[in-house]
Amino acid sequence: MCGIVGFIGKRQAAPVILDGLAKLEYRGYDSAGMAVFDGEKVNVTKAVGRLKVLEELTHGGETMPGTVGIGHTRWATHGVPNDVNSHPHCNRDKTITVVHNGIIENYIPLKNKLLKKGYDFVSETDTEVAAQLLDYYYNGNPLETILKVLHRIEGSYALGIMFADHPGEIFAARKGSPLIVGQSADGCFIASDVPAVLRYTRTVYFVAEQEVVRLEADHMHFYTMDEEEIEKEPTTIEWDADAAEKAGYEHFMLKEMYEQPKTVTDTLLPRLKKDRIEIEELGMSDDEIREVRKIHIVACGSAYHAGVTGKYVLEGLARIPVEVDLASEFRYRNPILEEGAMVIAVSQSGETADTLAAIREAKQRGFAVLGIVNVVGSSIAREADHVMYTWAGPEIAVATTKAYSAQLIALYLLAVKFACVKKTVDERMYRLLLRDLKRLPDQIELLLNNKEKIQHFANRYIGARDVFFIGRGIDYAISLEGSLKLKEISYIHSEAYAAGELKHGTISLIEEGTLVAAVLTQEKLYKKMISNMVEVRTRGAFVLAVTNEGNGDVKRAADYVIYIPETNQYFTNSLAIIPLQLFGYYISVGKGCDVDKPRNLAKSVTVE
Ligand code: G6P
Repeated sequence: MCGIVGFIGKRQAAPVILDGLAKLEYRGYDSAGMAVFDGEKVNVTKAVGRLKVLEELTHGGETMPGTVGIGHTRWATHGVPNDVNSHPHCNRDKTITVVHNGIIENYIPLKNKLLKKGYDFVSETDTEVAAQLLDYYYNGNPLETILKVLHRIEGSYALGIMFADHPGEIFAARKGSPLIVGQSADGCFIASDVPAVLRYTRTVYFVAEQEVVRLEADHMHFYTMDEEEIEKEPTTIEWDADAAEKAGYEHFMLKEMYEQPKTVTDTLLPRLKKDRIEIEELGMSDDEIREVRKIHIVACGSAYHAGVTGKYVLEGLARIPVEVDLASEFRYRNPILEEGAMVIAVSQSGETADTLAAIREAKQRGFAVLGIVNVVGSSIAREADHVMYTWAGPEIAVATTKAYSAQLIALYLLAVKFACVKKTVDERMYRLLLRDLKRLPDQIELLLNNKEKIQHFANRYIGARDVFFIGRGIDYAISLEGSLKLKEISYIHSEAYAAGELKHGTISLIEEGTLVAAVLTQEKLYKKMISNMVEVRTRGAFVLAVTNEGNGDVKRAADYVIYIPETNQYFTNSLAIIPLQLFGYYISVGKGCDVDKPRNLAKSVTVE
């Protein structure tokens, strides 16, 4: 959600910025712009639409010479996507230039104050207020002025700022929105995320909350909000830049789906020691695990769906009551957290604003938070008391696949570990569970290799208007994610229902030919599901079933069947989701949608 890139150094800034912004496209945006200092003044170019429009407009950056610049991809919040509202924003005499990710919540009173002082505004954005406020307080000392402004701004921000009278510096600051800075022999960089700078450097610094950075061509200085200079340790990025490239696949989503066997292995194996589950990063002794009375899982989007699965698995195996909350609800509903409660926040990006706020809410009440996070060094990873990383690597496609699969594994590991410590499963069952966990990567691979079958089926449903996903128990959790995958990338209306709810309203929506995807992997609920499928089929639905190998008689209630290999009933989600991901993917491809960057969506939702 909005991308920032800035450069100061020996290279031409514009091509570096364009290149970096391209690596951040996954964040979602609807316009782009950049500002480059040409030795005398700051030139700004903006363009609505894809980044390539800005690239063409500036001939790949050639028309904007200079070695100092900042750029931005905007995901509109305040004001429609157009050239005026796009970033960078400037003060009236164009000597202060700002790019911003986040929302300045008190921008209206600040704007009114500036209007009274005679300032004019050209855009509808909150960001222009920051540029004008910097102008209002500017005393020739950029750092002092920035700090003064930051103390007056409420909300969230990652900022890149240039002052025309200090052409040898760029300033960066963050609160609530992600920002990193990097350094190479050629210069210094700011960016919303690591892939934007990886081509140039592996040495990055994660900017902490309410930190300000002053970048020069060959040096970076970090400051607190009290203007105290601080020393920071760099992080060396170990993963390969290729991990953020398509590697021959048509789309990032396809590549990432294919990485799932590896992702599952990478998340699983470091926690298996001598055939026992050891989760060192949990920071809990067996006694402390036994004291857990209740688990609260908070998350958004697919991470929430992973949490819903986690509830069934943790409750089923470890017999601990679990409440799963959408983070946006948890943070405002004055949740009841009682002694013995454990809070788990699940997030791929580690930057989701609501999940971060939910963590703060829990911590404020004195509860420790375990983060299940993919992005190393992200805000949630830093703010959670303990972090269990999902080792999925960079995920670029907006629709998550491999990170979701890794989240499931992390939750299974916790459930089996807790079950073992609490002795709610015996040693024999523990070993069987471990065996089945270790089988998952090969089984996922098998399902991926049968992708043609799904592709063939998906081609028939490209014109579908509505699709319903139904399941019971864990299969309901799978349905939620299957439905989201389809709707978010194909724009086909789809809904997931607990199959038992069908008769309470939804069944009236079934018409001749309506596609119903039924997931039935839970043997004890199998017959109930068959009845639900028959009910919709008699009303004209076309039923696609996803079920366990061996359930041959499912054919009497389904028109098309996809079988998943045998696994423990608690782990079926990891397998059943694969055909549903592929189904959403092939429908999206067939419809000619922008698979990796669906309209209106952002990879990392850093505002409310
Ligand atoms: C966005 C993404 C989803 C993701 C959700 C939560 O909506 O498009 O794929 O599930 O945010 O993000 P997180 O990074 O916290 O997992």
